[in-house]
Amino acid sequence: MTTLGLIGFGYWGPNYARILSRLQGVRLKWICDINEDLLKIAQTDFPKINVSTNYLEVLKDKTVDAVVIATPVTTHAALVKSALEYGKHVLVEKPLTTSSKLAEQLFATASRHKLRLFVGHTYLFHPAVIKLKSLLKKQLLGKPLFFICQRTNFGPIRKDVNVLWDLASHDISTLLFLTGSEVVSISASGTNYIDPDIADLANINLIFANGTFASILVSWLAPVKVRQVTVVGEQKMAVFDDTSISKSLQVVDKAAITFKPGQPVDFINFKKNFAYVSKRQVIRMEKREPLGMQIKAFIKSLQKPNSFFVSSRHVCDVIKVLEKADQALLSGKTVEMRV
Ligand SMILES: NC(=O)c1ccc[n+]([C@@H]2O[C@H](COP(=O)([O-])OP(=O)(O)OC[C@H]3O[C@@H](n4cnc5c(N)ncnc54)[C@H](O)[C@@H]3O)[C@@H](O)[C@H]2O)c1
Repeated sequence: MTTLGLIGFGYWGPNYARILSRLQGVRLKWICDINEDLLKIAQTDFPKINVSTNYLEVLKDKTVDAVVIATPVTTHAALVKSALEYGKHVLVEKPLTTSSKLAEQLFATASRHKLRLFVGHTYLFHPAVIKLKSLLKKQLLGKPLFFICQRTNFGPIRKDVNVLWDLASHDISTLLFLTGSEVVSISASGTNYIDPDIADLANINLIFANGTFASILVSWLAPVKVRQVTVVGEQKMAVFDDTSISKSLQVVDKAAITFKPGQPVDFINFKKNFAYVSKRQVIRMEKREPLGMQIKAFIKSLQKPNSFFVSSRHVCDVIKVLEKADQALLSGKTVEMRV
């Protein structure tokens, strides 16, 4: 039996509480939040779980093996450090911190204390992303030419980080996983409509070492929720739509390879000659909640050290790309990088 405490019961924390309270072999003993109103809701929804406004109460409980941290990004570093120093394994929400140096220090602290530090890059556990990776690995789409990622909605708006750290962190993690390559250059542009100091819409373009190009559009100000990753391969194209359960991954038989580089395109016969729509295949997959898979992977990693783990390299690479994306956004210049 693994005993856990949950710190942070805002928008995302209740999802952890729901899954952890039903998971076999796990006891969720504490829910902690500085907001007493939220703790009243926690008490109603989870009457058998202790509540506290002070995370130290959770950390000082010697029966607690691990904590889940689902608080705002800028609070992660101090909470993670404290939890590790109290001897607790940690599952913390993405991104780990807003500084890659600090992230490396936290992994060093975890390793010194022989504890697990697991960062919740949820999309690494999404069945559609895992399937897409396997299609790319088997070259079933041909060489991937570019990715288009869109992640827009009406909020939730953050006060401590901009829209890149909040939303593009998902796409950067997904793209690093799917391409298996490093980012070499970033350009960015954005707007600050809500708060003059915090970007609420941003568009970043990434070039990877293997030549793949990716464009990511993220925004807190849009009327409709869009969560989409499009891959344009030389032979086929694929769309991962995270707002559709039944059609989350579709492979479309439109081939980019029929375009002959350098030769003039016959626009009049474009559809007939170049982009043919023969099939649109919906890939069926098991309905598994990515967050549940992530939590199970964390619990398993406590028992079996060699089981799948989100690597410190992946976590730090995501942060390094975000740091450079911020630089590109502020300067308006393309930033070169090697992560
Ligand atoms: N994986 C995903 O799909 C996903 C989705 C949403 C949010 N997130 C991540 O989850 C984290 C939390 O996001 P959210 O949307 O729930 O934010 P939120 O602001 O809604 O909730 C955070 C909660 O933490 C509490 N808190 C702050 N400091 C605390 C402290 N010292 N001790 C105890 N409680 C404290 C706040 O009172 C608040 O209720 C962020 O890192 C975010 O990036 C991930």
